[in-house]
Amino acid sequence: MRLIKKVDVASRIVARVRKRGKVIGLVPTMGYLHEGHLSLVRIARKKCGYLIVSIFVNPTQFGPKEDFRQYPRDLKKDLSMLRKEGVDLVFNPSVREMYGPDHQTYVEVVDWSRLLCGASRPIHFRGVTTVVLKFFNILQPDIAVFGRKDYQQAAIIRKMVRELNLKVNVITGPVVREKDGLAMSSRNIYLNPGQRQNAVVISESLEWVRQAYKKGARQTKEVRTRMARMIRNRGGRIDYIAVVDKDTLEPVKKLKKGTLVALAVFFGRTRLIDNTVL
Ligand code: PAJ
Repeated sequence: MRLIKKVDVASRIVARVRKRGKVIGLVPTMGYLHEGHLSLVRIARKKCGYLIVSIFVNPTQFGPKEDFRQYPRDLKKDLSMLRKEGVDLVFNPSVREMYGPDHQTYVEVVDWSRLLCGASRPIHFRGVTTVVLKFFNILQPDIAVFGRKDYQQAAIIRKMVRELNLKVNVITGPVVREKDGLAMSSRNIYLNPGQRQNAVVISESLEWVRQAYKKGARQTKEVRTRMARMIRNRGGRIDYIAVVDKDTLEPVKKLKKGTLVALAVFFGRTRLIDNTVL
């Protein structure tokens, strides 16, 4: 496994790999890896001949008051995990390598970047699409794998790929959870023990919706109210609970097959997200 920090070196290597006719797979991450990330690495490993994982805490997707500086980092541990998964190349550029001091170019999926998580994180998705497009250009992957834990992110990247005629096949993997149901996230380490216990209500509220839907519940309003109550009872502060069409991200009044229920909840200062598709 090679660790590469320079854009031009990475580009040269992938050009050679392409010449040999290998399918290149990419799993973009911000590091501090857990089983959720590794599940995507395993999906990619099966589908490509040359597997690249990027590790880059991307400053342009963090708001000015967000956790860019504190975001957890442990490159050594990440590398040892990736070595065991048979990764071929880890791309780990510095911020200066990715963004010059006068960086001004961004790509944005305009409307969708304002919805759901975008409402409280206005520049977030612009930063995500910009950095992902840069990785696509530098690393020339045939396939790229993203997690459905960040459902909106994967949907936005798919839309960018379609609308900019990129030749990357975007694949998604399911949400990987802790034993009690909490979706795995690098940010879970910010939670104190009490918050960690209460945070399970996020996935419980989604499981509750799934059961309620099975039993015939269809009213969006009612479901959102009940979920909100469950979450507040455990000390969660709701950023949003969205009930939308999984393909258009448009709000729906009635639950049906293909409805996406997505939410963001604060426990203390830690913002956690999760979702399910009915
Ligand atoms: P990061 O939060 O490190 O996540 C990297 C990838 O892992 C994303 O595709 C995310 O959806 C997926 N992932 C995280 N937790 C998961 C879980 N519990 N189950 C399944 N997949 C999970 O998302 C980012 O980084 C960044 O925005 C990035 C795309 C790398 C751009 O900077």
